[in-house]
Amino acid sequence: MVILLFFITICLLFIFLLFGRSKMISGLESKSGNDLLIGLIEDGLKGDIEGLEMQARRLASKLKKSDPKLSESISKLVSSSGCLRQSSSSHNTPTPVEPDSRQKLLIETYPVILRSQPVWTPAIEKNIERFLRERVMSEELLNEGLLPSRSLLMSGPPGVGKTLTAQSIASKLDLPLLTLDLASVMSSYLGKTGNNIKAVLNYASAFPCVLLLDEFDAIAKKRDDDSDVGELKRLVTVLLQAIDDWPVTSVLVAATNHGDLLDPAIWRRFDSLLEFDYPTPEQVYDFSIQWGFDKPTSTWLSENIVKASLAIIDKKFQQAKKNNILDDKSLLLSLIEVFEFKGAPDDLDIKRELSLELHNLGWTNKQVGEFLGMTGQRAGVLIREMRETVENPQQSLVLAEG
Ligand SMILES: Nc1ncnc2c1ncn2[C@@H]1O[C@H](COP(=O)(O)OP(=O)(O)OP(=O)(O)O)[C@@H](O)[C@H]1O
Ligand SMILES: [Mg+2]
Repeated sequence: MVILLFFITICLLFIFLLFGRSKMISGLESKSGNDLLIGLIEDGLKGDIEGLEMQARRLASKLKKSDPKLSESISKLVSSSGCLRQSSSSHNTPTPVEPDSRQKLLIETYPVILRSQPVWTPAIEKNIERFLRERVMSEELLNEGLLPSRSLLMSGPPGVGKTLTAQSIASKLDLPLLTLDLASVMSSYLGKTGNNIKAVLNYASAFPCVLLLDEFDAIAKKRDDDSDVGELKRLVTVLLQAIDDWPVTSVLVAATNHGDLLDPAIWRRFDSLLEFDYPTPEQVYDFSIQWGFDKPTSTWLSENIVKASLAIIDKKFQQAKKNNILDDKSLLLSLIEVFEFKGAPDDLDIKRELSLELHNLGWTNKQVGEFLGMTGQRAGVLIREMRETVENPQQSLVLAEG
């Protein structure tokens, strides 16, 4: 890294001398131009390679009009340093471990393969698309001296897709996903916790990746304990500093169930904020379609499932499908049982099918009628019709066609 830094600084100075200071200065007459040069030298001397790269890009952007050739040379030089395009698989630092137990502090996944695609509200989808676009076009943004978004804070109740969203981001950007569960890393010895967190942050900022800080509120919650306040403050400072210094090459994602517990200072530091909630009927509909249910069933499900997380809905769908296979029940009846729905979908064909199934389970006509939202007499007619269809499918086909 030091050699690379040295190389870039030397090259930039070389360009500076080669093209003539006067020519360069003419393109940088303003105070901001001088600041850029000073900043560039400062970052070089400090050994801040990211800062140096950023300043050099700004310089190139500033010189674009007055000296396009010089601007292009600087851009090429910075791009070829490969700082931004460092391969995600090129790192060979060992994963940090807890010093006593030697257990890994992080779960590392690459490539990230999703079990199912996330369904988002249009607002969240728009935000995520924007975030991804900034990442994909980071080179173009940097060339104009603009910093692409690096950090994202997601808050919301359990099971609404926060982890899935982090996985989706890592998968779309083709980066490894590193997950640190803050709740499990918090030990009663806060000093030790701080060191562990620092080790993880150092490790994750050294190569392109998505670092997910899960259960981010675990630190805030610790405030309620009688733990060492000074040590806790130091820990929060470590985190705030890490967010501020996060390299442009990586993505920092934090997830919390208790956004309200977080300090406003923490909220402010994140580039993007996503507030998740229980799914809307549209999300439930999309999720049911993704599960393979037909449109009328999905509409019915979306109208009847309220205030349940998609994680719970997912579990219930699995249960219903299992019951459908193992207990020889229709999928619809399995869904009704699993979700404990009090009524059936408002579709006569569906009602007809259900009427016989429920009757075969021992329900009286009156009970079937109540469930299907009709009189017992009407339910009796449906049951009879359905039984005839089942017992004599050929005849009912002829009747239907006739
Ligand atoms: N928005 C969603 N789109 C699709 N599936 C979802 C969504 N939300 C939850 N699920 C389903 O629920 C499972 C669990 O979701 P996930 O782990 O992302 O929730 P979470 O918000 O991170 O919850 P927690 O706060 O408990 O960590 C997912 O693997 C997926 O099957
Ligand atoms: Mg989660």
